[in-house]
Amino acid sequence: MAPFHYADGRLYAEAVALPEIAARFGTPCYVYSRAEIEAQWRAYSQAFAARPHLICYAVKANSNLAVLNVLARLGSGFDIVSVGELERVLKAGGDAAKVIFSGVGKRRDEIQRALEVGIKCFNVESRSELQRLNALAAAAGVRAPVSLRVNPDVDANTHPYIATGLRENKFGVPWEEALGVYQEAANLAHINLSGIDCHIGSQITEISPFSDAVAKIMELTRALRKHDIALRHIDVGGGLGIAYEAAAKMPSAKELIDAIYKVVGDAAYEILVEPGRSIVGNAGVLLTKVEYLKEAPEKNFAVVDAAMNDLLRPALYGAWQEIRPVRERPDAATGVYDVVGPVCESADFLGLGRALSVQEGDLLAVSSAGAYAFSMSSNYNSRPRVAEVMVDGSEAHLIRRRETMSEMMAGEAMIEKL
Ligand code: LLP
Repeated sequence: MAPFHYADGRLYAEAVALPEIAARFGTPCYVYSRAEIEAQWRAYSQAFAARPHLICYAVKANSNLAVLNVLARLGSGFDIVSVGELERVLKAGGDAAKVIFSGVGKRRDEIQRALEVGIKCFNVESRSELQRLNALAAAAGVRAPVSLRVNPDVDANTHPYIATGLRENKFGVPWEEALGVYQEAANLAHINLSGIDCHIGSQITEISPFSDAVAKIMELTRALRKHDIALRHIDVGGGLGIAYEAAAKMPSAKELIDAIYKVVGDAAYEILVEPGRSIVGNAGVLLTKVEYLKEAPEKNFAVVDAAMNDLLRPALYGAWQEIRPVRERPDAATGVYDVVGPVCESADFLGLGRALSVQEGDLLAVSSAGAYAFSMSSNYNSRPRVAEVMVDGSEAHLIRRRETMSEMMAGEAMIEKL
């Protein structure tokens, strides 16, 4: 059964009706389905079958401790991009030995902490980072496990803000320099070369960019072997995109993994993949209440209690996410609405031109809000962060309480001098 589905005229998360969640925890709130998160992770795991692999969930997609804990219990690894994400993984029971550290700007303190807890690998993105890592590993008396993130110059056909594998992007070591940087790394006493990686972008809806990127990586591994540099793992970067529209067809995890092995062949590499969106994206909705229906000369607006600070994707990328009424309302007239929040920006919309049968006070569910949703939220307009709820069968668990006013202001201070 779909994790979010209608029964008796109401939208449910697993076996819990969303109006009950709104009554218990208030709105706006994020609601996640544990079963869907597990099912999506298992789809990757089953696609690998018995071949050596590690699924490193990209923590940035949704970093709530309960989400990380559910995945840690399945045996997941984690892809982190900050020491904050590392501390979350550790707190949620994740295994440091299954953590990989991505990102172009790792600070000294972040590297030191990752060395201290013994992560699986640093995905190094530049010569300077390599030198810094070598020096810090020397000071700590250890050898740092390293994979170079190579920029394969492959077009992922996605939104320009989330394409990362093109020459003009800030990410990775340029393709032509990779061999030289590997040779440099091989001569550093405190670097242990263990892999190679790439990441070409996010919300990728076809397999071929992945195959193209892995083909370039394999080409490089062959060149490296000629220089006596042998690697143990290949990290293919993030996972697949998700269907934001019900009608959209997405390749499956199995198709992706099969395509990767087609390129890798029999070479005995451990394969790492760093999926975020495809694990949690369609496992969450943002539940919001219609405060006002407002008719303006040009348009009708449904003003809801969630806003761009809670869900930034529509404003930032022009992203389209489905918006469904929580109660089916055959009695209400259907209107076409821009669904907007109370924030003082015209970019503050969750959806434009949506045909909806709604009345004031009704609940709406913004779909596909499990990934890059709460994790990108802010306090803009001094709006406290919303609650997060995880549904597990017939139980709804509060996994992050709504921020209070004092929590929102905690840490601020006024200067005392007159
Ligand atoms: N690995 C690395 C190094 C990444 O930079 C990312 C995402 C991932 C893995 C996970 O990729 P996924 O499996 O989720 O496609 N905020 C944007 C998405 C930004 C993605 C950034 N990197 C959005 O809301 O669409």
